[in-house]
Amino acid sequence: MNKALRPAVIAGNWKMNKTPSEAKKLVEELVPLVKDAGCTVVICPPFVDLSVALEATKGTNIKVGAQNCHYEKSGAFTGEVSASMLKEMGVEYVIIGHSERRTYFGETDVTVNKRTKAALAEGLKVILCVGETLEQREQGITAELVAMQTIIALNGVSAEEMKNVIIAYEPVWAIGSGKTATSAQANEVNAVIRATLAKLYGEAVADATTIQYGGSMNAANAAELLSQPDVDGGLIGGASLKPADFAAIVAAAK
Ligand code: 13P
Repeated sequence: MNKALRPAVIAGNWKMNKTPSEAKKLVEELVPLVKDAGCTVVICPPFVDLSVALEATKGTNIKVGAQNCHYEKSGAFTGEVSASMLKEMGVEYVIIGHSERRTYFGETDVTVNKRTKAALAEGLKVILCVGETLEQREQGITAELVAMQTIIALNGVSAEEMKNVIIAYEPVWAIGSGKTATSAQANEVNAVIRATLAKLYGEAVADATTIQYGGSMNAANAAELLSQPDVDGGLIGGASLKPADFAAIVAAAK
């Protein structure tokens, strides 16, 4: 399948930024800037901002996602939020397995898999993050590592459920560092992920799956990254907090 037939998705991961009142202001500024987007636009604010974001995006083309969800429906999991809670609010997307979750909060490939399955079972769309550290890249194991992360995260996920999965390749060394992967590096690993999906689910599913790049993507480098045949969108951190910059990346995804 031609890249043009895959949905391009630009998603903003706000990370731990913006209070509810700040979130409302940011969304209100963003709405007019992306109203003619030629791609799917998603914002992923912190949990406490989701209500405000859902309200402020009502009737617009902006979709709302969370940054994580737990794998159990309810129970004694202090500080966690379940997929059914997000679903009932009207949240459509959820980021799973971000490298900051893996690095700082003990997330493993196995818990990423459990969270992915729970989110999909609830009907949420998952933005599943994979990516290597600098040490792993220098060791020459990027392809093997990212393929393995993908395989474990998708264990037990059906071909049908893959319609609701977006994969985000985020090299850890490029996140928040200002060191963007070159477009060739991004495309190479995205192609590895697509080949892995082909082995797991066949060519048709692999060709239909949106694979994003994330890591210091900004208004200046987005067009070049997004022009690559296997880069179908972006997961944006820092630049998603600036409406004009995020809108410029959205415009580059046309
Ligand atoms: P930056 O765009 O700030 O590098 O963050 C990328 C990221 O981690 C998005 O999930």
